[in-house]
Amino acid sequence: MTVTILITSGPTREYIDPVRFISNASSGKMGKALVQEALKQNCKVIAVKGPSDIDIPENKNCKVINVISAKEMLSAVKQNLKSADIFIGAAAVSDYRPVSVAKNKIKKKDIGSDTINLKLIKNPDIIKYVGNHKNKKVVVGFALETKNLLSYAKTKLKEKQLDMIVANGANTISSEKSSPVLIFKDGSVKKIKLVSKEKVAKEIINESIGIYKTVKTR
Ligand code: C5P
Repeated sequence: MTVTILITSGPTREYIDPVRFISNASSGKMGKALVQEALKQNCKVIAVKGPSDIDIPENKNCKVINVISAKEMLSAVKQNLKSADIFIGAAAVSDYRPVSVAKNKIKKKDIGSDTINLKLIKNPDIIKYVGNHKNKKVVVGFALETKNLLSYAKTKLKEKQLDMIVANGANTISSEKSSPVLIFKDGSVKKIKLVSKEKVAKEIINESIGIYKTVKTR
């Protein structure tokens, strides 16, 4: 039985004008580590990757779809969801995007004041969409918080109908290592000591496949 894992990774970019955008500091390292570990465990991988310096090489078991914005990421996920047994949302999706994208570069002289108002609109929640269409799929998300990490993560686990959430402190972003807490749907938790993202990826893939096997035999 080959397990197919759909993984989102990296940041998204939400353009303001042709040269400026809103984004975040996600490096895409966690996503790449998940892809590599899944391939090591003989899974098939579909990686939907936001723009970062990290490269995910394609091969016969790994399809890579490069996207820029959250809307593009959602559309790539929707197109590939059917073939996935497990979905892992490791992407740091921009929560908001500008209501409109200026056709030309915004010029200071056209603003006419020292302040500028940027109207933003909420982006679609990709993992929530997957949670709402999960059937027997296993859905795994991430939570990164600067306070109340565990309680916020537990709320997200419920709201997004996840099977597991990886709760991380904000020091994880762009770092080589992390020490997350894995929180499961049944309320149980597993703390991981500070280790490389490759080791964290191994834990996440092992746990995800374990859940998938129990869901499949149910
Ligand atoms: O709500 P928050 O952004 O903290 O949730 C983080 C989790 O939700 C991550 O797994 C992230 O990939 C996913 N997410 C998403 N689409 C969004 C926002 C977050 O898939 N628009």
